[in-house]
Amino acid sequence: MSDNTTPEVRKGLYGVIADYTAVSKVMPETNSLTYRGYAVQDLVAECSFEEVFYLLWNGELPNEEQLAEFNRRGRSYRKLDAGLIALIHSLPLDCHPMDVMRTAVSYMGTKDPEHFTPDVDHITHVGHNLLAQLPMVLAMDIRRRQGLDIIAPDPDKSVAHNLLSMVFGNGPDSPASHPDDVRDFEKSLILYAEHSFNASTFTGRVITSTRSDVYSAITGAIGALKGPLHGGANEFVMHTMLEIDDPEKAADWVNNALDNKDLIMGFGHRVYKRGDSRVPSMEASFRDLAERHDGAKWVAMYENMRDAMDARTGIKPNLDFPAGPAYHLLGFPVDFFTPLFVVARIAGWTAHIVEQYSDNSLIRPLSAYNGPEQRRVTPLAAR
Ligand code: CMC
Repeated sequence: MSDNTTPEVRKGLYGVIADYTAVSKVMPETNSLTYRGYAVQDLVAECSFEEVFYLLWNGELPNEEQLAEFNRRGRSYRKLDAGLIALIHSLPLDCHPMDVMRTAVSYMGTKDPEHFTPDVDHITHVGHNLLAQLPMVLAMDIRRRQGLDIIAPDPDKSVAHNLLSMVFGNGPDSPASHPDDVRDFEKSLILYAEHSFNASTFTGRVITSTRSDVYSAITGAIGALKGPLHGGANEFVMHTMLEIDDPEKAADWVNNALDNKDLIMGFGHRVYKRGDSRVPSMEASFRDLAERHDGAKWVAMYENMRDAMDARTGIKPNLDFPAGPAYHLLGFPVDFFTPLFVVARIAGWTAHIVEQYSDNSLIRPLSAYNGPEQRRVTPLAAR
């Protein structure tokens, strides 16, 4: 340090309260989470993803008329864009699907003449457009990697149902043809929709605070979500389970990873230290899916890993732990689990962008310098 004071540095902004938010409340003391005052497990039990999306944007649940109008408007954006299709097909087949999502949002920004605007109508327009286009991008990307043609969106289906149809088709084996599968998938979208000042939302708010545009904020948020310490964990959970393969080997695998000081994905949380409020609802959907899709092996794997981790460290699963095998049972390729998280989190990200614009202050923390003392520049020839 260049002076005698010892500044308080909160690495990782651990425990720092950066601003107010009315969008959601995370309560680690009681392992609970509310969206605009409603408990997330009640929303999962009672509401569609669209109702929750409306709630996050508007602060209140819609009545039937408001929901019908929200759906009418949102579904009118479900049009295949030739430029976007050509762009997706030009991207490498071996790039990560999150790179495709990020590129798609960036591209959509180039086609929107509005740059910076705090106008809620414009942000709502962008949110509807992203919610319509990104499931198409995701479906198109899965299918092009499998050498399959695009399936056109259906304006009569819900977001969850339409996404499953565009990925898997509407044949008898498709989850889109099974209402229970559609509902379990929809519940995962509700659980992934919002979670206060997590890394990706905060990234989006930082970008918004500079008065940059919505697409830039969402592009940055996608970049933050991709990392395995955040949204990328749901993919790593399934890669781990597939690698272990035998539930009887799960405990040894966990203990070995802990001996090596490795992080085990799908466990732990920056805010919840006694369990993630979203896990019970997601675990129930995972168990439902396992019953219908011959998934006893993955339930045993889940339980054995969870118990071994608990016995050794007391660290509890987070949402990504049940979501990973649930998405596997639905048939999604593992690399597409985090893009599914993107589709859901558009709701929370856009709600936070509106909130940030509504009472903006540039987000610009300080740092404590610990490099060399000030010194003279030696001319090149003398170095
Ligand atoms: N595996 C092994 N050890 C762990 C884990 C884990 N998953 N999580 C925490 N620890 C250890 C950590 O290394 C630390 O050990 P030590 O005291 O020896 O340094 C101790 O537990 C306390 O860690 P912490 O302060 O509670 O952790 P944090 O708040 O810095 O990190 C986290 C939170 C989510 C980054 C971390 O738990 C982690 O890396 N988990 C694995 C990745 C993951 O599942 N991410 C998803 C997060 S939630 C949903 C989402 O955003 O998608």
